[in-house]
Amino acid sequence: MAQKHILVGNWKMNLGPAKAMEMAAHFLPLAKNLQKSEIWVTPPFTSIAAVTDVLKGSKIRVGAQNVHWAESGAFTGEVSVAMLRECGCSYAITGHSERRHVFGETSELVAKRTLGALKSGLCVILCVGEKLDERENGATLEVIKAQLAPVLKELTPELAKNLVLAYEPVWAIGTGKVAAIKDIEETHQGIIGHWQKSCAAPCPPILYGGSVDPDNATAILKVQGVGGCLIGGASIHPEKFPKLVAIAEQ
Ligand code: 13P
Repeated sequence: MAQKHILVGNWKMNLGPAKAMEMAAHFLPLAKNLQKSEIWVTPPFTSIAAVTDVLKGSKIRVGAQNVHWAESGAFTGEVSVAMLRECGCSYAITGHSERRHVFGETSELVAKRTLGALKSGLCVILCVGEKLDERENGATLEVIKAQLAPVLKELTPELAKNLVLAYEPVWAIGTGKVAAIKDIEETHQGIIGHWQKSCAAPCPPILYGGSVDPDNATAILKVQGVGGCLIGGASIHPEKFPKLVAIAEQ
């Protein structure tokens, strides 16, 4: 059977516990009878426990938008794997473009988060992607290779089993400007080719992210090498997200 498409909702800094519970309850019926896709939702830290409570017993996975590698300690503003697990998280996102470009997280810092979480047994969605000038200069793949490098340096095949990648062109995030299908295909194939040369483990699924909505998802999910989508705005839209799930199930 073909690999299931993973639809990951990144709720970003939206929906406090009360509203997040409503959204989760609205999405709960979507998880019944899923054949070709999986649903993962990623609320802000303070809403995670409330959302896992609503989704308990369903197939929808709940994750966090970031994670720290240490078990505990003097790391103001950070959250550990153990804390996330206690709230019902089974995965975390690392290296999201907003973490890299708004909050200045370097690829080395992102690698510490990624490898630390993987070593503690958490599944990780590692995000990579180029800025507009980098694409225009033909540097897309070089940028992505540099973002992956500190992770690949220490990644073992065992750890790679719990890794998912997400390709999110920075200029496509929240702008309504989705990447051209041929560019998505070329970049995903480029990542797969680089991975195969650099790591003994098979290349993880690669999600596409950036202005995914029901109007473009059918074409994106058909692209060879697209393992699903990482969805921002449409993932907290009461009608668009169910439509995306229906598209992935077609
Ligand atoms: P949008 O779908 O709102 O463009 O956001 C994409 C994203 O950043 C998901 O992580």
